[in-house]
Amino acid sequence: MPQTVFVLNGPNLNLLGTREPEIYGSATLDDIAGMLEDRARELGLEIDLRQSNHEGHLVDWLHEAQAVGAKAVLLNAGAFTHTSVALHDAIKAIRTPVIEVHLSNPHTREAFRHTSYVGMAAKATIAGFGALSYLLALEGAYRL
Ligand code: DQA
Repeated sequence: MPQTVFVLNGPNLNLLGTREPEIYGSATLDDIAGMLEDRARELGLEIDLRQSNHEGHLVDWLHEAQAVGAKAVLLNAGAFTHTSVALHDAIKAIRTPVIEVHLSNPHTREAFRHTSYVGMAAKATIAGFGALSYLLALEGAYRL
């Protein structure tokens, strides 16, 4: 049975491709899923990619990742990154390693993006490589 890597995406990431492409690029979430699935196949892993605009769904899915024995979680929590103590606590509450992912580099943007409640609890962070951030995070997850 291949091990599963959860790829959890937060608010507004369903609009990737058309959402501020000068910041987030032209790849859609489906494009990213396809790219991750191709690489996961080579690595003998399985991808379970989900997106929600609701904070509680992301909390539930972090718990589920541990319950089903996922190898790791790649988490792009979108704007909840900068606001959510609930996501911070959920990451701390599970033993499954969580890798924070961002398309852009929040540290080069507005000051309100410089705090990451996700990053304070995550095992690692990959940011600023556009869609490639997800692929780099998968490589990292594989080597854990
Ligand atoms: C983002 C960065 C966040 O600051 C922003 O709210 C997003 C996307 C990124 O992938 O670059 O929604 O997580």
